[in-house]
Amino acid sequence: MLIKTNRGISSSEITDAKLFLERRRLIRIAIGSAIGTLGAGLAAHAAPGAPKAFEKVRKSDYSLQEEPTDYDYITQYNNFYEFGTSKEAPAVLSQGLKTRPWSVVIEGEVEKPGVYDLEEIILSQVLEERIYRLRCVEAWSMVVPWVGFPLGQWLKQFNPTSRAKFVEFVTLFDPDQMPGQRRAVLDWPYVEGLRIDEAMHPLTIMVVGLYGKLLPNQNGAPLRLVVPWKYGFKSIKSIVKIRLIEQMPKTAWNKSAPNEYGFFANVNPNVDHPRWSQKRERVIGSGLFTPKRDTELFNGYAEQVAHLYAGMDLRKFY
Ligand code: MTE
Repeated sequence: MLIKTNRGISSSEITDAKLFLERRRLIRIAIGSAIGTLGAGLAAHAAPGAPKAFEKVRKSDYSLQEEPTDYDYITQYNNFYEFGTSKEAPAVLSQGLKTRPWSVVIEGEVEKPGVYDLEEIILSQVLEERIYRLRCVEAWSMVVPWVGFPLGQWLKQFNPTSRAKFVEFVTLFDPDQMPGQRRAVLDWPYVEGLRIDEAMHPLTIMVVGLYGKLLPNQNGAPLRLVVPWKYGFKSIKSIVKIRLIEQMPKTAWNKSAPNEYGFFANVNPNVDHPRWSQKRERVIGSGLFTPKRDTELFNGYAEQVAHLYAGMDLRKFY
């Protein structure tokens, strides 16, 4: 995400993907397999009690038939402003985040509100591997083999009432553990939201792992959202609270720059961001000289989700 400030964007805050990739290439040449070792190390850092459910992760029909991006890129090129605004910072600064035990508050328009233990949530779900493309609003993308479960199926367990029109998600607020929250980069905690039909759509998942392992902290451990037809900023990380509500929630990016980051945030090559084109995207990990790929409407899921927006002007509801 690019923050617009009066002084413009400081280059030390934002690493251009090209620069990042070149730096990575040089590091690879310099230290050979060390990066692989780091990747394995991060995975091995998985919290104890890696849920039994991980032993039988089922393949999903919703997966893309594409080769996933390298684990190193997925876990070392991140947006997680609670741990800094550079791409490299989250992989380093998030390692101290305590992700177990973890509980999630479910409240608002449900018959069964409560505080639910994450380990129990995971054990009660059938985990699936879903290979999805993550298309960031910054015009880059990756293909990620997420491990998770459908959000809608899970939410139904709490018996939403007829007044539940939207779902609000809230990230942990803990500046001691999340150093980025000591700066007013965003109005913390990070909040995101979906319309109830978007939340209930079978493509929308809660994620607890990737590449068959527990989710690394920098990717949003222990629980994050993934909505594959929307820009990556909708995929809120380290969720502690989910509220079912009647009114559209005020989301962190929408509050920060309403003309740049809309509530819907559907991937759309025909609606440019006010400061750059959304027609094409850099494919992270594909090499410096690989051409960008054409961005697809709804990130390639138009057939499955376009009907949710029938009759809506997608330029107005961006
Ligand atoms: N969630 C929180 N809490 N804080 C963030 O800064 N960044 C978002 C999203 N979720 C973000 C967040 C953005 S802009 C993107 S593109 C994705 O996370 C990046 O996910 P990844 O690091 O797993 O690729």
